[in-house]
Amino acid sequence: MNAGLIGIGKFVPSKVVTNKDLEARIDTSDEWIRTRTGIEERRIADENTDTSDMAYEAALDAIKNAGINAEEIGMIIVATVTPDRPFPSVATMLQERLGAKNAAAMDVSAACAGFMYGVVMAKHFVEADTYKHVLVVGVEKLSKVTDWEDRNTAVLFGDGAGAAIVSKVSEGRGILSFELGADGTGGKHLYQDRYIRMNGREVFKFAVRQMGESAVNVTEKAGLTTEDVDYLVPHQANIRIMESSRERLGLPVEKMSKSVHKYGNTSAASIPISLVDDLQEGRVKDDDIVVLVGFGGGLTWGALCIKWGK
Ligand SMILES: CC(C)(COP(=O)(O)OP(=O)(O)OC[C@H]1O[C@@H](n2cnc3c(N)ncnc32)[C@H](O)[C@@H]1OP(=O)(O)O)[C@@H](O)C(=O)NCCC(=O)NCCS
Repeated sequence: MNAGLIGIGKFVPSKVVTNKDLEARIDTSDEWIRTRTGIEERRIADENTDTSDMAYEAALDAIKNAGINAEEIGMIIVATVTPDRPFPSVATMLQERLGAKNAAAMDVSAACAGFMYGVVMAKHFVEADTYKHVLVVGVEKLSKVTDWEDRNTAVLFGDGAGAAIVSKVSEGRGILSFELGADGTGGKHLYQDRYIRMNGREVFKFAVRQMGESAVNVTEKAGLTTEDVDYLVPHQANIRIMESSRERLGLPVEKMSKSVHKYGNTSAASIPISLVDDLQEGRVKDDDIVVLVGFGGGLTWGALCIKWGK
């Protein structure tokens, strides 16, 4: 039996920062941001809410939706590039707060593709019968590494957390295939020193190519064709990049997850956050073939093809 996502959850801070709010701070416009990125607003965590706090809320939501209790979790994997501090890891902080006393815990650094990396690791532990349930969290407080004077990056990012419980699911369902990849030669295009620095055009070119390719690759690895795909959940970085991967799969607009307008790019959290909204609003149903695909700094990328359902 395959591993699948038996419960997912999310948390976004309540504070909304609109494009108009940013107009007041930097030389940009609502029109520029909307047409170039699709972003209308983003959520920003307050000073008392750190990465682990958001991770905790999303994890509680996923645990509740999975119908398990925290003591049943064998491992916690937190994908983040904005941990509260270098160590202890966010995963160990969660382990304590959740009372997940039987869980091993670690953080993973794969930027915006981090949730994909985490789920693939979890799948292997679950399918090898090492752990029954693995909690995977994608979480970022990017606002603390955003240069609010740099219009190239300040308009793009938001804070938030998404989480999933990865466990065995019924025959035929679950993760059918995956792809992970990295190209360190592109590391110079998107990195953090004090703040996030980015060569937008280079990242854009890479993302358009990689998102389309990876989405098609996982579909084929699952023994399917693009016509079999019911729904696409791309990393919510930029609507134009998302659209290019949707077109590559030949899907109509309503078959692509879209939350970038509400939350901006929340890095490792964007895919699970978007998927939670899709499930709640009935866009993803049991037995749908769902492709998740992400890319990020590193450069890194990852994709999953899932037959949805427990
Ligand atoms: C950043 C991005 C939206 C820029 O869009 P673009 O169409 O490539 O825009 P360009 O690079 O052609 O820039 C056009 C102009 O807008 C300017 N500009 C940049 N940010 C701006 C902003 N927030 N407001 C107004 N103008 C802005 C640029 O300075 C440039 O001006 P110039 O030509 O005088 O130098 C786009 O490159 C992108 O999305 N890249 C990928 C970023 C990403 O996803 N990063 C996260 C990866 S996980």
